[in-house]
Amino acid sequence: MDLIPSSFTAETVSAVIGGTSGIGRAVAQALQARPGRVITASLATGLDVSDPAAVAAFFESIGPVDHVVFTAGSQAPGGPVAALDLDAAKAAFDVKFWGAIAVAQAAARQLRPGGTLTLTSGFLSRRTVPGAFVKTAMNAALEASAKLLARELAPLRVNVVSPGLTDTEAYAGMAPDARGAMLAKAAATLPAGRVGHPRELAAGYLFLIDNPFITGAVIDIDGGSLIQ
Ligand SMILES: NC(=O)c1ccc[n+]([C@@H]2O[C@H](COP(=O)([O-])OP(=O)(O)OC[C@H]3O[C@@H](n4cnc5c(N)ncnc54)[C@H](OP(=O)(O)O)[C@@H]3O)[C@@H](O)[C@H]2O)c1
Repeated sequence: MDLIPSSFTAETVSAVIGGTSGIGRAVAQALQARPGRVITASLATGLDVSDPAAVAAFFESIGPVDHVVFTAGSQAPGGPVAALDLDAAKAAFDVKFWGAIAVAQAAARQLRPGGTLTLTSGFLSRRTVPGAFVKTAMNAALEASAKLLARELAPLRVNVVSPGLTDTEAYAGMAPDARGAMLAKAAATLPAGRVGHPRELAAGYLFLIDNPFITGAVIDIDGGSLIQ
């Protein structure tokens, strides 16, 4: 079976929410190499996904859509639960978790038959790392929610990509030395012997979009994080 889909035509519309940076930008670039229109949205384009009304208005404005990818929101507070800033934790959930759910709600009204929604979790969803509570909780909630959405929105397909450590702008706030050391340490400990590149993650999103027999799935593209 040819998995390079003939389903992509000049009429195909894809939206990548979070598509201006990192993994989302790589997904948008991969989709732009195909026929059709690719819309990217993020804070930089004026869409704040933590505002459900803004998300609804965005999907109203773009009209019918075939493929929606959500990669927005890479920031979350760390530290032990006992000392967690709950307001910061809720703000992170408002973007990555509730933002994804608001997008699912609004996209469900616009997705055409054969359409897909692909969300993003992260390897901490299924790893127990003290100090990583917010990412663990958000990502686990997203994975569970995507499976439920895959039932409720069927025959639209809903899937998740769970990235491992990937070198993106998510770490731009770190001092260059610290960032380099963090990435090198992760590369040395991961079974794959390297950290991820955004285009390697993008390949996973396209795989889920293209294969009409996959729904309710979570695929790990993580260099082996979960088998360490
Ligand atoms: N990189 C990793 O190591 C890694 C590991 C595991 C999981 N992940 C997950 O993969 C996804 C993508 O991460 P990334 O590394 O590609 O991050 P990134 O480069 O920081 O990109 C995040 C994107 O989210 C957008 N965004 C942030 N807040 C937003 C808001 N309130 N409304 C709309 N858009 C918003 C940003 O837009 P602006 O640029 O306009 O602010 C940006 O386009 C995230 O869910 C992250 O948790 C990443």
